[in-house]
Amino acid sequence: MVYSAFPVLGREGYSVCRVDGRIVRAFGLVDGGTGRKHLNSILLDPRFQGGGIGSAIMHRVDALARASGIALVRIAASHKSAPFFGRFGAKAVKVIPDGWGSGMHRVDMELRL
Ligand SMILES: CC(C)(COP(=O)(O)OP(=O)(O)OC[C@H]1O[C@@H](n2cnc3c(N)ncnc32)[C@H](O)[C@@H]1OP(=O)(O)O)[C@@H](O)C(=O)NCCC(=O)NCCS
Repeated sequence: MVYSAFPVLGREGYSVCRVDGRIVRAFGLVDGGTGRKHLNSILLDPRFQGGGIGSAIMHRVDALARASGIALVRIAASHKSAPFFGRFGAKAVKVIPDGWGSGMHRVDMELRL
Protein backbone atom coordinates (compact mmCIF):
# COMPACT_ATOMS: atom_id res chain seq x y z
CA MET A 1 0.00 0.00 0.00
CA VAL A 2 1.25 3.50 -0.88
CA TYR A 3 0.34 6.51 1.26
CA SER A 4 0.26 10.06 -0.13
CA ALA A 5 -0.36 13.22 1.82
CA PHE A 6 -3.11 15.52 0.60
CA PRO A 7 -4.38 18.77 2.10
CA VAL A 8 -8.01 19.10 3.17
CA LEU A 9 -9.11 22.71 3.54
CA GLY A 10 -5.50 23.57 4.23
CA ARG A 11 -5.15 21.10 7.11
CA GLU A 12 -2.12 18.87 7.38
CA GLY A 13 -2.26 15.19 8.24
CA TYR A 14 -4.59 13.70 5.64
CA SER A 15 -3.48 10.76 3.53
CA VAL A 16 -4.89 8.75 0.68
CA CYS A 17 -3.92 5.10 0.30
CA ARG A 18 -3.43 3.48 -3.06
CA VAL A 19 -3.39 -0.18 -3.99
CA ASP A 20 -2.18 -0.84 -7.54
CA GLY A 21 -2.56 2.89 -8.25
CA ARG A 22 -6.20 3.00 -7.17
CA ILE A 23 -7.29 5.18 -4.25
CA VAL A 24 -8.93 2.84 -1.76
CA ARG A 25 -8.98 4.85 1.45
CA ALA A 26 -8.59 8.27 2.99
CA PHE A 27 -7.94 9.27 6.56
CA GLY A 28 -6.65 12.20 8.59
CA LEU A 29 -4.56 12.16 11.74
CA VAL A 30 -4.78 15.82 12.69
CA ASP A 31 -3.74 18.00 15.57
CA GLY A 32 -5.97 17.69 18.61
CA GLY A 33 -4.06 19.81 21.11
CA THR A 34 -0.94 19.06 23.13
CA GLY A 35 -0.11 15.36 23.01
CA ARG A 36 -3.33 14.55 21.16
CA LYS A 37 -4.51 13.76 17.67
CA HIS A 38 -7.88 13.24 16.05
CA LEU A 39 -8.42 10.38 13.61
CA ASN A 40 -10.82 11.76 11.00
CA SER A 41 -12.76 10.35 8.08
CA ILE A 42 -11.35 6.86 7.83
CA LEU A 43 -13.24 5.78 4.72
CA LEU A 44 -12.73 2.76 2.56
CA ASP A 45 -13.93 1.98 -0.92
CA PRO A 46 -16.66 -0.60 -0.16
CA ARG A 47 -15.11 -2.97 -2.69
CA PHE A 48 -12.04 -3.18 -0.46
CA GLN A 49 -13.73 -3.54 2.93
CA GLY A 50 -12.84 -6.63 4.86
CA GLY A 51 -9.49 -7.01 3.15
CA GLY A 52 -7.23 -5.91 5.98
CA ILE A 53 -6.70 -2.33 4.83
CA GLY A 54 -8.48 -0.88 7.88
CA SER A 55 -6.12 -2.81 10.13
CA ALA A 56 -3.11 -1.61 8.13
CA ILE A 57 -4.29 1.98 8.57
CA MET A 58 -4.70 1.53 12.30
CA HIS A 59 -1.16 0.20 12.58
CA ARG A 60 0.06 3.19 10.58
CA VAL A 61 -1.92 5.57 12.81
CA ASP A 62 -0.29 3.95 15.83
CA ALA A 63 3.19 4.35 14.32
CA LEU A 64 2.60 7.96 13.22
CA ALA A 65 1.20 8.95 16.61
CA ARG A 66 4.00 7.30 18.55
CA ALA A 67 6.61 8.91 16.30
CA SER A 68 5.05 12.29 17.11
CA GLY A 69 5.05 11.58 20.84
CA ILE A 70 1.27 11.44 20.88
CA ALA A 71 -0.32 9.59 23.79
CA LEU A 72 -4.00 9.96 22.90
CA VAL A 73 -5.91 9.62 19.62
CA ARG A 74 -9.55 10.68 19.59
CA ILE A 75 -11.91 8.99 17.14
CA ALA A 76 -15.42 10.16 16.28
CA ALA A 77 -16.94 6.84 15.26
CA SER A 78 -20.44 5.50 14.76
CA HIS A 79 -22.15 2.61 16.48
CA LYS A 80 -21.36 0.59 13.36
CA SER A 81 -17.62 1.31 13.22
CA ALA A 82 -16.93 1.51 16.99
CA PRO A 83 -16.47 -2.27 17.36
CA PHE A 84 -13.76 -2.11 14.69
CA PHE A 85 -11.81 0.59 16.56
CA GLY A 86 -12.42 -1.28 19.81
CA ARG A 87 -10.39 -4.17 18.42
CA PHE A 88 -7.38 -1.84 18.48
CA GLY A 89 -7.93 -0.74 22.06
CA ALA A 90 -10.10 2.35 21.56
CA LYS A 91 -12.64 2.93 24.34
CA ALA A 92 -16.00 4.64 23.97
CA VAL A 93 -16.23 7.75 26.15
CA LYS A 94 -19.50 9.23 24.87
CA VAL A 95 -22.47 8.12 22.81
CA ILE A 96 -24.71 10.66 21.10
CA PRO A 97 -27.94 9.02 19.88
CA ASP A 98 -28.62 10.02 16.25
CA GLY A 99 -25.40 12.10 16.40
CA TRP A 100 -24.65 11.44 12.73
CA GLY A 101 -28.29 11.61 11.64
CA SER A 102 -31.40 9.57 12.25
CA GLY A 103 -30.49 6.02 13.24
CA MET A 104 -26.73 6.66 13.07
CA HIS A 105 -25.36 7.11 16.57
CA ARG A 106 -22.11 8.93 17.20
CA VAL A 107 -19.58 7.19 19.45
CA ASP A 108 -16.65 9.28 20.65
CA MET A 109 -13.69 7.06 21.40
CA GLU A 110 -10.20 7.41 22.84
CA LEU A 111 -7.21 5.31 21.91
CA ARG A 112 -4.41 5.58 24.48
CA LEU A 113 -0.95 4.63 23.23
C1 LIG B 1 -14.79 0.08 9.48
C2 LIG B 1 -13.66 0.00 8.42
C3 LIG B 1 -12.73 1.20 8.62
C4 LIG B 1 -12.86 -1.33 8.65
O1 LIG B 1 -11.87 -1.45 7.63
P1 LIG B 1 -11.64 -2.86 6.90
O2 LIG B 1 -10.51 -2.72 5.95
O3 LIG B 1 -12.95 -3.32 6.35
O4 LIG B 1 -11.23 -3.78 8.15
P2 LIG B 1 -10.25 -5.06 8.14
O5 LIG B 1 -10.44 -5.83 6.88
O6 LIG B 1 -8.86 -4.62 8.48
O7 LIG B 1 -10.88 -5.89 9.35
C5 LIG B 1 -10.13 -6.32 10.46
C6 LIG B 1 -11.05 -7.08 11.39
O8 LIG B 1 -12.06 -6.16 11.89
C7 LIG B 1 -13.36 -6.69 11.62
N1 LIG B 1 -14.25 -5.55 11.32
C8 LIG B 1 -14.25 -4.78 10.22
N2 LIG B 1 -15.19 -3.82 10.31
C9 LIG B 1 -15.81 -4.03 11.51
C10 LIG B 1 -16.88 -3.38 12.18
N3 LIG B 1 -17.51 -2.32 11.65
N4 LIG B 1 -17.23 -3.84 13.41
C11 LIG B 1 -16.62 -4.92 13.95
N5 LIG B 1 -15.59 -5.58 13.35
C12 LIG B 1 -15.19 -5.13 12.15
C13 LIG B 1 -13.18 -7.61 10.41
O9 LIG B 1 -14.22 -8.56 10.36
C14 LIG B 1 -11.83 -8.23 10.71
O10 LIG B 1 -11.99 -9.27 11.63
P3 LIG B 1 -11.07 -10.63 11.56
O11 LIG B 1 -9.64 -10.16 11.70
O12 LIG B 1 -11.55 -11.43 12.71
O13 LIG B 1 -11.34 -11.22 10.22
C15 LIG B 1 -14.19 -0.04 6.98
O14 LIG B 1 -15.02 -1.16 6.82
C16 LIG B 1 -14.93 1.21 6.54
O15 LIG B 1 -14.31 2.13 6.04
N6 LIG B 1 -16.27 1.22 6.71
C17 LIG B 1 -17.11 2.30 6.20
C18 LIG B 1 -16.83 3.64 6.75
C19 LIG B 1 -16.76 3.69 8.23
O16 LIG B 1 -17.58 3.13 8.94
N7 LIG B 1 -15.73 4.42 8.68
C20 LIG B 1 -15.55 4.77 10.05
C21 LIG B 1 -15.94 6.23 10.19
S1 LIG B 1 -16.63 6.55 11.78
